[in-house]
Amino acid sequence: MKQTITDITVDNKRVFVRADFNVPLDGDCRITDDTRIQKTLPTIKYLLDHHAAVILASHLGRPKGEAVPKYSLKPVAERLSELLGIPVKFAPDCVGPETKAMAEALQPGEVLLLENLRYHKEEEKNDPEFSRQLAELAEIGVNDAFGCCHRAHASVAGITAYLPMAAGFLLEKEIRFIGGAVDNPAHPFAAIIGGAKVSDKIEVISNLLPKVDLMIIGGGMANTFLAAQGYGIGKSLVEADKIDLAKSLIAQAKEQGTKLLLPVDVMVAAAFDNDADHKVVDVADVPADWMILDVGTKTQELFATELAAMKLIVWNGPMGVFEMENYAKGTEAVAKAVAASDAVSIVGGGDSVSAVNKTGLSDQISHISTGGGASLEYLEGKKLPGVESLSDK
Ligand code: 3PG
Repeated sequence: MKQTITDITVDNKRVFVRADFNVPLDGDCRITDDTRIQKTLPTIKYLLDHHAAVILASHLGRPKGEAVPKYSLKPVAERLSELLGIPVKFAPDCVGPETKAMAEALQPGEVLLLENLRYHKEEEKNDPEFSRQLAELAEIGVNDAFGCCHRAHASVAGITAYLPMAAGFLLEKEIRFIGGAVDNPAHPFAAIIGGAKVSDKIEVISNLLPKVDLMIIGGGMANTFLAAQGYGIGKSLVEADKIDLAKSLIAQAKEQGTKLLLPVDVMVAAAFDNDADHKVVDVADVPADWMILDVGTKTQELFATELAAMKLIVWNGPMGVFEMENYAKGTEAVAKAVAASDAVSIVGGGDSVSAVNKTGLSDQISHISTGGGASLEYLEGKKLPGVESLSDK
């Protein structure tokens, strides 16, 4: 078991918090979605309630070791200040004498945000000296940056050689839900895997297939499975070099008695265009010059019926080209089915998270992950450096 924030003494201490404030910005550097900031507030507020001096650090974008102004965390300091209702100080760098002096002068109940960690190439190189410089800013550390835990970077991994780190509330929740689903799932357990390509999700499917009772495959990747079953899929996206792999996964599911559900009907369109002619057909009737862009209505009902009986559902990846309104219904139907079920439900991956948010049902999902790449790697069964390097209880 890893230490969490409530296992350590933070009162009146200078606490280094690695957060994931890698938020989307528009062309004028305005934050367009502050979910990741909001989700870190419980940890920050807990520390402030315990009279800690809070030193926040994050990366933003991929500035590749250069101080690129458009990746400054300044807008995050401003947003945080609004959300917390107190001034948030901003250090123009994350290391160096000025930052060190600002950290040392920070009083209990105050917050300091450091400038983008990735302005220094040493961050991504997990450089020991850079890790040490970050560590010396504080007396104890908290990692609340689940979205970065798959990166063996200085502020996530290397720093723990110099500063013990415990999980913040957000990271603790991600470990409890995703780690719990991978290591000790409740049954019946369903995984819904979608997205464009089998190759992006193959490791998730391989890791989860032996653990689940039901695996639902949708999205563009389902085409490769349909082709493996001998269906004509017209001009649909397909990975010809993955057809044999799809065949062996279908065989594996059969052998181990796992229900593997593929679409039984699909929404086909004459072109990759929202306004193209489109219709629902059975999987056996895909016209040769049309393409599959979503699952069909019978499939939506089938998936919803099967999901209703589950105790645990993990969902990663959309069922169709949900960015186009005419091909979004399959993904929306799955979002509704997951929300309606009594199962513990975990949604990860940017597209499925936006689909859930779009339906307005996010409060009916047990856990919406803040990590894209991190949640995928966690579901693949990989050890995440940021989780592994937390102190043990
Ligand atoms: C994310 O947005 O998934 C995390 O912040 C990690 O960002 P990265 O992919 O640039 O490492």
